[in-house]
Amino acid sequence: MTQEVDNSRRRMLTTVTSGVGLVGAGAMAVPFVASMAPSARAKAAGAPVEVDISTLKEGRMLAVEWRGKPVWIIRRTQKMLDDLAQIRDRLADPDSMVLDQQPTYAHNKYRSIRPEILVVLGVCTHLGCAPTEKFETGAASGISDDWVGGFFCPCHGSAFDFAGRVYRNVPAPTNLVVPPHSFLSENRILVGVDQEETA
Ligand code: FES
Repeated sequence: MTQEVDNSRRRMLTTVTSGVGLVGAGAMAVPFVASMAPSARAKAAGAPVEVDISTLKEGRMLAVEWRGKPVWIIRRTQKMLDDLAQIRDRLADPDSMVLDQQPTYAHNKYRSIRPEILVVLGVCTHLGCAPTEKFETGAASGISDDWVGGFFCPCHGSAFDFAGRVYRNVPAPTNLVVPPHSFLSENRILVGVDQEETA
């Protein structure tokens, strides 16, 4: 079982079974998060996690666990993609030149293999807190009124856009990490295995 995460609520984890875990992007109406019981052995081994995103709607995200860390998968809207270019002057590393923050196949303006699908670790690059989804535009606690949506870390106020790129003048030094991942098919992602390795 997995729950899709609503834009405005908190996120969390999901799944793994043994070997390659399979996670379904459940189309649950209730916004909350998921909580599943991954196999301890699979987690310890860092096994790849297979995720079904067939029911993941535009503008929504789901979270799975891989190697003990939350991995967020977001199906971005066209507006989210368009806004990436609009805010680049407000970002610390808009072109993702800190190369170890993403695999080479995600070193592009969307930081992803397919533009609409972002796969990123939900771990703040400052001190490792869990950022919160702030998908709504406009002001909120700690966020200015020109906010176009993204992620906000409540621990010390770091902010990230819909590509996981960090804003300027916040404690987090780098963009969120894009983990190794690949597409097995249109709606199946394997987290933990690089795209080239499955080609
Ligand atoms: S851990 Fe996120 S801002 Fe400090």
